[in-house]
Amino acid sequence: MKILSIETSCDETGISILEVKGKKKPVFKVLANSINSQIKIHAPYGGVFPALAKREHQKNLPILLERTLKKAKIKTTFPRHPIDLIAVTSGPGLEPALWTGIVFAKEFSKKWNVPIVPVNHMEGHILSVFAKDKNAFSIPKIEFPILSLLVSGGHTELVLIKDWQKYQIIGETLDDAAGEAFDKVARMLGLPYPGGPEISRLAEEKRKKNDLFSFSLPRPMLYTKNFNFSFSGLKTAVLYLIKKIGPLNEKAKMEIACEFENAVIETLVYKTKKAIEKYGAKTVIVAGGVSANKYLKKELKKITGSKQKLLFPEKELSTDNSIMIGIAGYFKFIKKNKKNTRASKIKAEGGLRL
Ligand code: KG4
Ligand code: ZN
Repeated sequence: MKILSIETSCDETGISILEVKGKKKPVFKVLANSINSQIKIHAPYGGVFPALAKREHQKNLPILLERTLKKAKIKTTFPRHPIDLIAVTSGPGLEPALWTGIVFAKEFSKKWNVPIVPVNHMEGHILSVFAKDKNAFSIPKIEFPILSLLVSGGHTELVLIKDWQKYQIIGETLDDAAGEAFDKVARMLGLPYPGGPEISRLAEEKRKKNDLFSFSLPRPMLYTKNFNFSFSGLKTAVLYLIKKIGPLNEKAKMEIACEFENAVIETLVYKTKKAIEKYGAKTVIVAGGVSANKYLKKELKKITGSKQKLLFPEKELSTDNSIMIGIAGYFKFIKKNKKNTRASKIKAEGGLRL
């Protein structure tokens, strides 16, 4: 079957066409994948501006669809078309942005008379670790329970997965998401949006120098007896530190970036380790934009050893994309025994949980 998948939850407009062959062990092949990033448009605001995101998605969706169909060498002469299913992100995310994808999906579901399946964006991120942009792929045999650390611009969650599609959030951020904290601190340091890669680059430079730190930052909630996180206090601590230091030179920026990254990663890794131990996780899935962070990868490798399989997405698929939405949509569709979700019932749910 061929799946058209659509992602518009934040600032990336994504459309892909996946081909799925075989029932018992489905093999996925990405026939075409298009992504249009709005990073440059939102950069002056230091974060995503919802009304602007909506406008950009609306403008880009028809153009991307045409381009994606062409790339996949698919011809659609109404009413003929080869698409069997449409998968669309219904949440969590920015509601005005989510609606653009949903309205677009509904329009084509009606025009082409194909079922439509709403997808949880976070489930997409979890499955993104199996996706390959260029080659065919299938979901390998996984040992449960899985512990998933989801770290993006909007979320920081630890999810326990006892079986596919059975998700339990065991901990989450009480305020800012990890990626959001990276972006906000980057802004304080005068670095461009998105801040994660910029902070990470400066932090690496500081680590290479191997010289001492002249200050330290807090590790919020490190020793609380739960799996929750909090990054807003850390962000405020950076703000006070910057005020205290005065005008920042390159050396000071590097040091702040590095100590900030150390504080975030130490907290993420410590709580992940505790959760692995408590739930006896056999597999660890790390996904979302922040999973591209090299230091996070390195530190997680240290705590997982040979007892757990540690999975990350390919770098290009760690940030938002529609391939992951197509995979999650396929499994949801199959599980529902192909019973269609009524298109009219699908709505944007900004706060949708796993
Ligand atoms: O998953 P994603 O593309 O979008 C959301 O669903 O939020 O994640 C984007 C977030 C941004 O906050 C960005 O700064 C962060 O991921 N990010 C990173 C790195 N690359 C992207 N954070 C830390 N280190 C990185 N290398
Ligand atoms: Zn995301």
